[in-house]
Amino acid sequence: MQSDDISQVLYTEEDLARRVAEIGAAITADYAGEPARQGIVVLSVLRGAAIFMADLCRRIDLPLEMDYMAVSSYGSGAKSSGAVSILKDVTADLTGKHVIVAEDILDSGLTLTYLLGYLASRGPASVEVATLLRKQRQGQAPIDCRYVGFECPDEFIVGYGLDYAERYRNLPYIGILRQDLYQ
Ligand code: IMP
Ligand code: MG
Repeated sequence: MQSDDISQVLYTEEDLARRVAEIGAAITADYAGEPARQGIVVLSVLRGAAIFMADLCRRIDLPLEMDYMAVSSYGSGAKSSGAVSILKDVTADLTGKHVIVAEDILDSGLTLTYLLGYLASRGPASVEVATLLRKQRQGQAPIDCRYVGFECPDEFIVGYGLDYAERYRNLPYIGILRQDLYQ
């Protein structure tokens, strides 16, 4: 079974549902009024953030657009280098809109640094980041995340959208992958 590959569960299904609901409620409160009238676009980067994005949007009680980008980061192995190429661009017109980037996990922060620069060039009214997880590690790019689900340990984790070699995304919880499986 897939669940046998997890050495420790960090966030259960219930933990995730509770925290996602809290973030959704915070966004609803923060964007009610003027931003909601101007238009809200929740944007995620495929594929890791898709599950978080789907759950989060159902917890935001405001009209919004959902959009997706696909990027590839070039780097050695599991490390991202910050050089990003866009495989699928945003479909929505972001001009004058309030953009909320839904991220699965902030690790080095290089991908998001690039993405925020790119999005700023598309003329949005505002751009904020909602990340489900932020890894506690050295040398993370300084990124202002308005919404953070959990500060997580610097381990290789999978589930709820996060993969190892495209597997484990469908685990309903988040856990640490057994080290013997990737060493
Ligand atoms: P970075 O912040 O540019 O280093 O890259 C973040 C991306 O790397 C995330 O969106 C994930 O797709 C992936 N990533 C980083 N840490 C992990 C992990 O522990 N498990 C699975 N994917 C991860
Ligand atoms: Mg990602």
